[in-house]
Amino acid sequence: MRRHLMLALAAALPCLVPALLAAQGTGQVREPFRPPIQFTDEDPAPPIPADVTDDRRVARNYPEQPPVIPHNIRDYQISLNNNQCLTCHSRQFTGATQAPMISITHYVDREGQTLGAVAPRRYFCTQCHVPQTVAQPIVPNTFKDMDSLISRPSDGGDRR
Ligand code: HEC
Ligand code: HEC
Repeated sequence: MRRHLMLALAAALPCLVPALLAAQGTGQVREPFRPPIQFTDEDPAPPIPADVTDDRRVARNYPEQPPVIPHNIRDYQISLNNNQCLTCHSRQFTGATQAPMISITHYVDREGQTLGAVAPRRYFCTQCHVPQTVAQPIVPNTFKDMDSLISRPSDGGDRR
């Protein structure tokens, strides 16, 4: 008897699934990343968040992190013939511009040779350095840096 019931359920399942999906389609879509509208409706695009351009250098989360860019980079060209970032950040211009100099790692090529100018693998700055906007992350970030992990006050929890 039980087996028959199971078989009947298994047979009915393919019919039930589309019905369930259809029922879901009539309600509002509850997805964390979607605006709360029907997927067939067109929502007006949200405004583009403003850039953070307060010129305050942001602390790195770990020593190897490429620092984020605290200023506007709109229309700064990086091409074969021109790298506008280097007009401020290369060694010879930092005196006049007061921009932090690119560090020595930017001169080291992939063979470990220190070159006289920026190494090709560090030429396209925005590959690694990015400006920030005021947009809030959709998914909360729980990253903790090493310092706060080491100095975490005893919480009585299980720590081995
Ligand atoms: C007009 C000069 C100028 C240009 C061009 C420029 N910067 Fe800057 N940059 C600065 C100055 C000055 C600072 C120091 C913070 C400030 O005043 O904004 C800085 C800070 C930074 C920092 C933060 C460094 C740190 O240690 O926190 C990064 C990364 C950076 N710039 C990357 C870039 C990149 C990539 C470009 C090209 C897309 C660029 N900059 C173009 C002047 C410039
Ligand atoms: C392959 C990734 C990468 C590229 C490309 C790159 N950087 Fe960096 N940058 C880093 C990392 C990682 C750091 C931090 C550690 C270090 O200094 O190497 C850094 C550090 C910096 C700093 C801070 C230096 C200091 O001593 O505080 C500046 C300024 C900077 N980069 C500017 C630039 C500019 C301008 C360019 C383009 C010419 C560029 N970077 C290209 C990865 C990169």
